[in-house]
Amino acid sequence: MTYRIAVCVSGGGSNLQALIDRLRGDATARVVLVMSDRADAGGLERARKDGIPAEVLADPADASEWITRLGRRDADLLVLAGYLKLVPAGVVQTYRGRIVNVHPALLPDFGGAGMYGKRVHAAVLASGARESGPTVHLVDEAYDRGAILAQRRVPVLPDDTPERLAARVLEEEHRLLPEVVLAAARAGRPVPLGVTP
Ligand code: GRF
Repeated sequence: MTYRIAVCVSGGGSNLQALIDRLRGDATARVVLVMSDRADAGGLERARKDGIPAEVLADPADASEWITRLGRRDADLLVLAGYLKLVPAGVVQTYRGRIVNVHPALLPDFGGAGMYGKRVHAAVLASGARESGPTVHLVDEAYDRGAILAQRRVPVLPDDTPERLAARVLEEEHRLLPEVVLAAARAGRPVPLGVTP
């Protein structure tokens, strides 16, 4: 049976695109819904191009709206791919253990409220860390705090800017997120990468 993925985006949606591309021609999993808190999110356009329902949340703080939309598409998994707002607690409760987020740094460091976009990479550079890389984790009621499912490491280079580091991390995100989603599809729920249930 095909595992049904809903993806939530606030921005350009390159992770969404990587997921769509990786799942093309693979019956294991399929993106069945893309939602956004912003009508102008590039990710919505990417979804439409692929014939995937693209929906704008009228009230991103309203759990019942999320639950209705997810239920209508029979979503098995909710993927936050560059979704910048907090997911309402009612959604976390209803879909506990079935929501994952991709974060562009090695959690538990460099996460939490306000840690998104360039700020994350600037903080990594300011810390003097020699490595960074994406984390995919389960979502709970707090930003970037849920159980870590997978991480990838990339070097921080001496002449890095936040932009250059972001681009290097993003390339790894595009590989890591589809892997985690496919592992979840095979297991029937998100699992740490490399763990066979
Ligand atoms: C990614 O770096 C992701 O880790 C972060 O926001 C960015 C989204 O990029 N949460 P995109 O919209 O997938 O291109």
